[in-house]
Amino acid sequence: MNNLAGKVAVITGGGSGIGLGMARAFADAGMRLVVADLNEEPLAAVREELGARTEVLTHRCDVSQHDEVQGLADAAVQRFGSVNLLCSNAGVGIPTPTENMKLADWKWIIDVDLWGPIYGVEVFLPIIEAAGEGHITATASLAGLIAGRRMGAYNVAKHGVVALMASLERELRARKSPVRASVLCPGPINTNISFNSVKHRPGGAKPKSDGAASGRAASNIQSMLEQGMPPDEVGRLVLRAIENDEFWIFTHPQWNKTLQKQLDAMNDDRSLTKA
Ligand SMILES: NC(=O)c1ccc[n+]([C@@H]2O[C@H](COP(=O)([O-])OP(=O)(O)OC[C@H]3O[C@@H](n4cnc5c(N)ncnc54)[C@H](O)[C@@H]3O)[C@@H](O)[C@H]2O)c1
Repeated sequence: MNNLAGKVAVITGGGSGIGLGMARAFADAGMRLVVADLNEEPLAAVREELGARTEVLTHRCDVSQHDEVQGLADAAVQRFGSVNLLCSNAGVGIPTPTENMKLADWKWIIDVDLWGPIYGVEVFLPIIEAAGEGHITATASLAGLIAGRRMGAYNVAKHGVVALMASLERELRARKSPVRASVLCPGPINTNISFNSVKHRPGGAKPKSDGAASGRAASNIQSMLEQGMPPDEVGRLVLRAIENDEFWIFTHPQWNKTLQKQLDAMNDDRSLTKA
């Protein structure tokens, strides 16, 4: 999709991190914005910052609830008349070994990270097709291509997101739709996802016995992410990929060597690589 100026972008999880980076990049490209997040608090800051640069609607939306995603679409269409771009970006993750993961956490992570993008496609695709030109992207992760340790539910959800967007893009191309799809697979990005995920974890799913351990593990991951790519840079990469109709959006292409090793081992001796 090109000539983005004036077009309408909807971003979920746009109150912080990568989503906010996308919102900034799209505002610089002259797009009009609908920025959604779980809580009102970060949205007020988004309105204040970006409202001076472009037209911005903010909307509270829990992407794990179909009726709220529908409400987001209704609000976007009511304000701007149409939508051209959806970024299903909201996400959460808690580092826990698969055997210890509570069913309530499985459900929460898959509801947000996978059902969020599924609802996004179901609700927004007809609206974007009706606009005559557009794009749907979803934020997966390198964890959508290789399943590391301690992130079982997150890996399952993100593999699902990659499969969802690849299926969609192949179908859109086959029927010559004016809509393109893509998937963002970031490596480490300097955001507050670990702390935000601990904060958003449903109260009922927070057993007293593992609260401190989860907090420590989240804190270790957080330190690693602090060395990661700035989220505003990711926003600019996403903008460029959408302009160029690219399907795979990578922030750390050097990690593709790890994927190649996995493929080689599948072919060579059928073993599972270490990472
Ligand atoms: N930071 C990284 O290193 C990294 C790497 C790969 C993939 N990702 C993915 O990038 C996306 C953005 O994460 P981030 O790193 O910017 O983290 P972040 O915590 O800064 O941003 C995520 C946003 O999603 C919002 N959110 C959480 N649950 C929600 C819900 N149910 N409904 C609506 N909004 C909700 C949060 O409030 C937050 O503003 C996520 O999908 C994440 O899995 C991040």
